[in-house]
Amino acid sequence: MKKTYRLAVIPGDGIGPEVTAEGIKILETIAGKCGIEFLITKYNLGGEHYNTTGEILPDTILESIGKMDAIFLGAIGHPDVKPGILEKGILLKLRRHFDQYVNLRPAKLYEGVDTPLKDKRPKDIDFVVVRENTEGLYAGIGGSFKHGTLDEVALQESIHTRKGVERCIRFAFDHCRKRNKAKKLTLCGKTNVLTYAFNLWERVFYEIAEEYPDIETDYAHVDAVCMWMVKNPEWFDVIVTDNMFGDIITDLAAMIQGGMGVAAGANINPDGISMYEPIGGSAPKYSGKQMINPIAAILAVQMMLETFGEKVAASFVENGVIKVLQNHLKSTASGKMGYRTEEVGDLVAGCIEESLFRPAADRKFSKA
Ligand code: IPM
Ligand code: MN
Repeated sequence: MKKTYRLAVIPGDGIGPEVTAEGIKILETIAGKCGIEFLITKYNLGGEHYNTTGEILPDTILESIGKMDAIFLGAIGHPDVKPGILEKGILLKLRRHFDQYVNLRPAKLYEGVDTPLKDKRPKDIDFVVVRENTEGLYAGIGGSFKHGTLDEVALQESIHTRKGVERCIRFAFDHCRKRNKAKKLTLCGKTNVLTYAFNLWERVFYEIAEEYPDIETDYAHVDAVCMWMVKNPEWFDVIVTDNMFGDIITDLAAMIQGGMGVAAGANINPDGISMYEPIGGSAPKYSGKQMINPIAAILAVQMMLETFGEKVAASFVENGVIKVLQNHLKSTASGKMGYRTEEVGDLVAGCIEESLFRPAADRKFSKA
């Protein structure tokens, strides 16, 4: 029996449509071969749609997406729309509406990919950030007083609930155990200054740690995490942190793994509908030029397959990516790959096809 997955695709703004097209190409390559199928519904959301209709993300669409198994998102952000409207109205709304309380962002340096860190190799850069994804400074709570005057006061509250912190930390411990690498979980906070918020994080972290005696625990302030990530990234296995710190350190993590062209993330609700995305932005100046690296979008698809429990399909995708990075791309940077966006998708699809048609006994899955 074929397993069917209903997938909501939101190509979004800028280069979103180009990279999601390559992700879908890979899903189509893998589907029939692995006994699965995808029923894709595309949703036209983003800056163009907003500018022509005034609509951002209507409830009818949320309801329709609510019937899907997962969401695959390209990018959100448009030069002709005031910053914040689409980000809050689409991306953050989806994360919150579907209670995708973890943003899982792996940083893995694959063979053949350049890192700006001197002397660091794939064995040194392989960690995952578990970013809390619905609270903190992203809760949108605050206000302004005497707005627009010289006496203006702006408040932006950082919200940390016991429930929110606990479920995120628990997910991180579970993920660290499942990943089964160094089995080390680092809490990234700022207990020396944010003494209320990170006191809560710290207490919950060590309380839950009792249930995971097989996992080594560690703590580092967020500024130190930035320092170590550059100097000794090999110290990290899994990092758990709040929403704002997670946003910032995952851009740094993306750079050391080879840039936005290869950085993927999953917005996860373990009991609901999760959303997968390349973590780079809409890059409007590259829009329609077929210059952006679609590997990040393809790795987002790989994370989706993994979360669905489609391990074989997921490893075919990852191995396709590994081969293309190692043997084909000149660089992972936009415009420097030596190929157009769609050609990179074709190359990955080709590598997947090739390994699928080889007899099982000949298949060698290289682990990066
Ligand atoms: C990300 C992005 C978003 C965030 C923006 C676009 C709202 O930077 O996914 O990391 O801050 O979470
Ligand atoms: Mn970000």
